[in-house]
Amino acid sequence: MNINSKPIGIFDSGFGGITVLRELLKLMPNENYIYFGDNKNIPYGDKSKKEIIELSSKMAEFLINKNCKILVIGCNTITASASEILKEKFDIPIIEVISNACAEANKIAKDNISIMATDFTVKSKIYLRKIKEKNKDIKITQIVCKKLCPMIENDWQSFEDRFEILNNYIKRIDSNSDCLLLACTHYPLIMNDIKKVLKENKKNVKKIIEPSRPTAFSVKKYLKENNLLNNNIIKKNKLIIYTTSNDKIKAKNLLNIFLNNEKYELEFVNLD
Ligand code: DGL
Repeated sequence: MNINSKPIGIFDSGFGGITVLRELLKLMPNENYIYFGDNKNIPYGDKSKKEIIELSSKMAEFLINKNCKILVIGCNTITASASEILKEKFDIPIIEVISNACAEANKIAKDNISIMATDFTVKSKIYLRKIKEKNKDIKITQIVCKKLCPMIENDWQSFEDRFEILNNYIKRIDSNSDCLLLACTHYPLIMNDIKKVLKENKKNVKKIIEPSRPTAFSVKKYLKENNLLNNNIIKKNKLIIYTTSNDKIKAKNLLNIFLNNEKYELEFVNLD
C-alpha cells in the first residue's frame, strides 16, 4: 500500500475525539481514517496516570497494526498523561490536542481565561504551564467537570438534571474571562447547551476555544510538509470506527448523532 493512502488514526477514551475527526474530514476529505474509542473504559479522567498509559498504549499499538501513517490523540486526558510516553515508545508521528489548543488560546486570550476539563487534566496543570509559558500574567481559572464526559457518552439529552449540572460548572467561570477553553473533546458535542447556560449566567466570554480545529490544521500541515497527503482522489475515502463498547445499539446511536451523515463502518473489538 502506498504510504500516502494509509489511514490517519485518531483515538480517545470514547467518542469525544469524533469532534477532531469531524474537523479532519472537513479539511482533508480525501484521507482514509480509522477512529478508535475505548468506550468500555470511559471515563479516563478519573483514572491514574499508569492506567491511562496502559490503555492508550494498547490503542496506539492497535492503530499502528492497522497501518496508520500518523496518530492523532483526540483526547486531552490522554495527552496530559501519556503523550510524551507514547511519542517515545512508538515510531510514528503523533499529534495531540493540548499544544494546539494552547497555541490557539495564546493567540486569542490576553488577560483572563477559564478552562473546563476532566479531573486528570486539571490536576496535571498542563494547560496552566503551557499557556503561562507564553503569557505569564494571564489569569487562569480551571473547573473540574467530572460528570460531563460520562453524561455525553450516555445520551446527554436523556438526563433531566443536565442543565442543573452544567450550571454548577459554568457559574464557577470567572466573570472577567475573555475566553472559555473546552479542554475535553467531548464538550463541543453539547456546545449549544453550553452557550445557553453561559448566557443565562451572564458570562460574557467573547470566544469559546476548543482543540479540534487547530489540531486538524496541525495534522494537515504535518502531512503536507512531509509529502504524506493522500493523492489518490479517485477512490472514495474510507472511515472505519473501532469501539470497545459492548452495546452496539448505543454506539451506533451516538455515532449517528455525532457524525451527522458521514458514512462509516463500525467494528467491535476487545483490548483486554
Ligand atoms: N475526550 C476526553 C478528553 O478530551 C475525555 C476524557 C475522559 O475519558 O474522562 O479529555
